[in-house]
Amino acid sequence: MAIVAPSFLSANFLNLEADIKMINESEADWFHLDVMDGRFVPNITFGPMIIEFIRKASTRFFDVHLMIVEPEKYVEDFKKAGADMLTVHEECCVHLHRNIQQIKSLGMQAGVALNPGTPVEAVKEVLDDLDMVLIMSVNPGFGGQKFIPNTLNKIRTLRRMIDERGLATKIEIDGGITLENAHSIIKAGADVLVAGNTVFKSKDPKDTIAQLKKITR
Ligand code: DX5
Ligand code: ZN
Repeated sequence: MAIVAPSFLSANFLNLEADIKMINESEADWFHLDVMDGRFVPNITFGPMIIEFIRKASTRFFDVHLMIVEPEKYVEDFKKAGADMLTVHEECCVHLHRNIQQIKSLGMQAGVALNPGTPVEAVKEVLDDLDMVLIMSVNPGFGGQKFIPNTLNKIRTLRRMIDERGLATKIEIDGGITLENAHSIIKAGADVLVAGNTVFKSKDPKDTIAQLKKITR
C-alpha cells in the first residue's frame, strides 16, 4: 500500500484549519509541506513559523520539503517547528553528506530531493544514509503542473539500486500525480505519493486520498 502525503501547498489558505482537520480524518499517512525561498525556485511560500502553527492542529507525520539554498542554516528551526522528515535538494547542498548527518543528528529522518534534470546517481554515495529519496516529477516551484514521463525510468533505476543493497530507503514522487497515473508510479517502484491538486481540488478529498491509498504494486 502506498504512503499518501497530501501537499499543503494546494490547501485553502483562507481556512487552513478545515483542511488540516480533513487530513486528520482521512487515510493520509503524511502531510507534505513545501518550503520555497524565491532563490532556488521561482516562488516563495512559508517557513518554520507557519509549520509550527500547523503542527498544533495536525496529527500527521510532517514531511518537510525544503526548496531553499543553504538549507543547513535552517535545519534546527525546522526541527523545532515539528518536522519529522526533512528533505533537502541535492542541487542546494555543497556538502550533501554533512547536511544529511546534521538532519539525523537532530533526530529527524533525512531525505534528498532530485530535480527532473538530476540523475538518480547523484545520491549513489549517500544512499545508505538516507531514509528517503524524493524524485521530482515536475520542476519544483508550483502545484498543478504536468507529470514528466521520464520520471518512471528514474524510479525504476533507483528502485534497483535500493533493492540491490537491501536498503529500506523510501522513494517519494512529487508533482503532477493523478488518480490516472498513480498506479504506474507505484508499479515502477515508488513508496510515497505526494498529491496537491489531485487531493485538494477534488470534489471529495477524503475519498481521493482513500483511492490513492488503495494502490498497490
Ligand atoms: C512543487 C511541490 C509539490 C506540489 C505538488 O514544487 O514540491 O509538492 O505541491 O503539487 P501537485 O500535486 O498539484 O503537482
Ligand atoms: Zn514538494
